[in-house]
Amino acid sequence: MLVKTFGSAVAGIRAFTVTVEVYMDQGIQFFMVGLPDNAVKESHHRIESALRTNGYRIPGKKIIINMAPADIRKEGSAYDLTLAVGILGANKVIRTDNLAEYVIMGELSLDGGLVPIRGALPIAIEARKNGFKGILLPLQNAREAAIVKGIRVYGMPGIREVIGFLNGDLRIDPVVIDGKEAFLQENGFDDFDFADVRGQENIKRALEIAAAGGHNVLLIGPPGSGKTMMAKRIPSILPPLNLMEALETTKIHSVAGKLATGQSLIVRRPFRMPHHTVSDIALIGGGTIPHPGEVSMAHNGVLFLDELPEFKRSVLEVLRQPMEDRMVTISRAKMTLEYPAGFMLVAAMNPCPCGFYSHPTITCQCSPAEIQRYINRISGPLFDRIDIHIEVQPVDYRQLSARRQSESSAEIRKRVIGAKSIQEKRFSAMESIYCNAQIPSGKLRELCRINETGDLLLKTAMEKLGLSARAYDRILKVARTVADLENSGDIRIEHLAEAIQYRSLDRLNWSEKN
Ligand SMILES: Nc1ncnc2c1ncn2[C@@H]1O[C@H](COP(=O)(O)OP(=O)(O)OP(=O)(O)O)[C@@H](O)[C@H]1O
Ligand SMILES: [Mg+2]
Repeated sequence: MLVKTFGSAVAGIRAFTVTVEVYMDQGIQFFMVGLPDNAVKESHHRIESALRTNGYRIPGKKIIINMAPADIRKEGSAYDLTLAVGILGANKVIRTDNLAEYVIMGELSLDGGLVPIRGALPIAIEARKNGFKGILLPLQNAREAAIVKGIRVYGMPGIREVIGFLNGDLRIDPVVIDGKEAFLQENGFDDFDFADVRGQENIKRALEIAAAGGHNVLLIGPPGSGKTMMAKRIPSILPPLNLMEALETTKIHSVAGKLATGQSLIVRRPFRMPHHTVSDIALIGGGTIPHPGEVSMAHNGVLFLDELPEFKRSVLEVLRQPMEDRMVTISRAKMTLEYPAGFMLVAAMNPCPCGFYSHPTITCQCSPAEIQRYINRISGPLFDRIDIHIEVQPVDYRQLSARRQSESSAEIRKRVIGAKSIQEKRFSAMESIYCNAQIPSGKLRELCRINETGDLLLKTAMEKLGLSARAYDRILKVARTVADLENSGDIRIEHLAEAIQYRSLDRLNWSEKN
């Protein structure tokens, strides 16, 4: 007897329907064909144990299992349930007349319970596209998949319930999620608030611009000046995700298997803060079973690299490509995978090895050569990709002890949201561009038009400061955001002048300052 069940293979952030054919005949052999990897082969043992614990068994017959299409690599243990249902169907324990209506996925534990799988969201999207009526998943993945409308998502605790459900003996209701409600639950509340930061008005201003336009930003200053403290407060002023962005981000976290149990949609921009000992693969993605890296987990949010020069140079070098393409490409023998990686980079560093170069009162112990070597750990092309550089000075005691309350994150965020809505209108006709930082160079002249006086100012600044062509583009984009924050259609001289200020690292050969 031949029975067909359906599963799904995840590659990158897409899923592909996989057909599992189980053929049963006289004999006692067990074959699996169609490129299953070792974990899929081990399924046999897990299925055997799960069935036995629940009073069923793999029949002592000849069983041939084929997984198609053969050219998609089927990794991992998430097919346990698909295979088990196929075997039970072929053995007439499960009714087979409605198996074609469902995509069935889940890893079995030895007692027959279901263990969560990766990629439930893209699996549900693909199942709906292919016209399936429903999808059977481990209970923990159900809310994640149920954000997709137009397909019934059933959360299953174990194999026993799956058998009961498919035979029509057990009624299970599909999980229903209201995506809008998930959105509304986002209250913008954060643990960290800019109200805790005394003084530093100019730095807060620069971070407001960065958040409004999605600009990469580097904070450079001595120890204790509050760099880490302020960077951690950036999420509190970021604009909310729109629904498209939320879905994109959730897909990546779903594929990585990193959604919290019961979470259906990521509604806040992610903030990722990998330690400086992070490996290339953990940062960029990849591995034997490919996983999205930190750059993709930060998609539509912030990647914060604290103590930037402590990161291995090779790690920083691999950052360049995703920063330019907003996409990571991982090559495999048979296919290439792509993970989105559109993040805002926030980096912090000391100005020199001892940290006190440029400190107002403490003298720096480093030689010019040491300082230059330290700065050189970060390559020019990486610096070039950062729109906003800011020098942070520690606040003095008087400011620290001042009673006056600083502006709260909520107030700053209101202005950021205002600037963001202007950008949404601007980019509504352009695909996958959401903020000023992403304006392609071909569109720059049109979207960031400046008048003759502005042009002259920029030309002078370029010559005096020795700015690169890339720096020129970055200044225009930042100036666009400064104008948007003021709700000004034109980029005026003062907007340009402020944007030029944020190129402090271009301006000086660091160790030769003073
Ligand atoms: N402007 C400020 N307002 C209030 N507290 C501040 C301010 N600046 C610094 N602090 C205090 O100093 C502490 C140290 O700051 P933080 O760790 O952010 O410094 P840093 O610049 O990251 O230093 P390092 O280079 O050593 O990492 C903060 O946790 C905070 O308590
Ligand atoms: Mg720090």
